[in-house]
Amino acid sequence: MGWLSSILWAFWYILPAYFANASPVLVGGGRPIDGGRKWGDGRRILGDGKTWRGFIGGVSIGTLIGLIQYFITPGFYGDFKTAFLLAFLLSFGALLGDLVGSFLKRRADLPRGAPAIGLDQLGFLIAALALAYPVKTLSSGQIILLLVISPFIHWGANYFAYKMGWKSVPW
Ligand code: CTP
Ligand code: MG
Repeated sequence: MGWLSSILWAFWYILPAYFANASPVLVGGGRPIDGGRKWGDGRRILGDGKTWRGFIGGVSIGTLIGLIQYFITPGFYGDFKTAFLLAFLLSFGALLGDLVGSFLKRRADLPRGAPAIGLDQLGFLIAALALAYPVKTLSSGQIILLLVISPFIHWGANYFAYKMGWKSVPW
C-alpha cells in the first residue's frame, strides 16, 4: 500500500469513532448517566455533560456511519457482520473512553466542560482502537498517525461547533 492510501484508509477506519464522539453535542441532553449521583469524594461520578441520549445517540450515529461506509467500500470490511461489529465497537469504545475521561476529570476536581488536554482528545480514540482491535486493526504506523493528527481534528471540530453555537466553549 502506498503511503497516501495508507493514510486515507486509517481515517476511513476511524470515521465511526469520530462521528460517535462528535454527535452527542447535537443529540445529547436530558438525564445524566450518573443520575446526579456522587462518588465517595463528594463530587459527581460523571457529571451533567454525560447523558444517556448523548451516549446512545452517539453509538447509533457512529454505527450507522460505519454501515454506510460498508456500502461504499465493502472490500475494506469483508462481510456485513464484520463491518457492523467494527462500526459498533469503534463507536461504543469512543463513548466509553469519553465516560472514563469524565470520570477521571471529576476525580481531579475539574468541573464539567473544563479542558483536560490529552484526555479530551485521545481518550475516546484509544478506547475505540482497543475495543475494535480484535475485529480489525491498523498498522502501528497508522495508529501513531491517528494519535498525532486526531487532537488537531478534535480541536478543529470543537471550534467549529462553538462557532455554530452548538457548544459554549471552543474545546
Ligand atoms: N454529551 C452528552 N452525552 C455524552 C457525551 C456528551 O450529552 N455521553 C453532550 C453534552 O451536552 C456535553 C457535550 O456533548 O456537554 C460535549 O461533550 P464533552 O466535551 O465530552 O462534555 P463536557 O461537557 O466537556 O463534560 P466533561 O467535562 O465531563 O468532559
Ligand atoms: Mg468537553
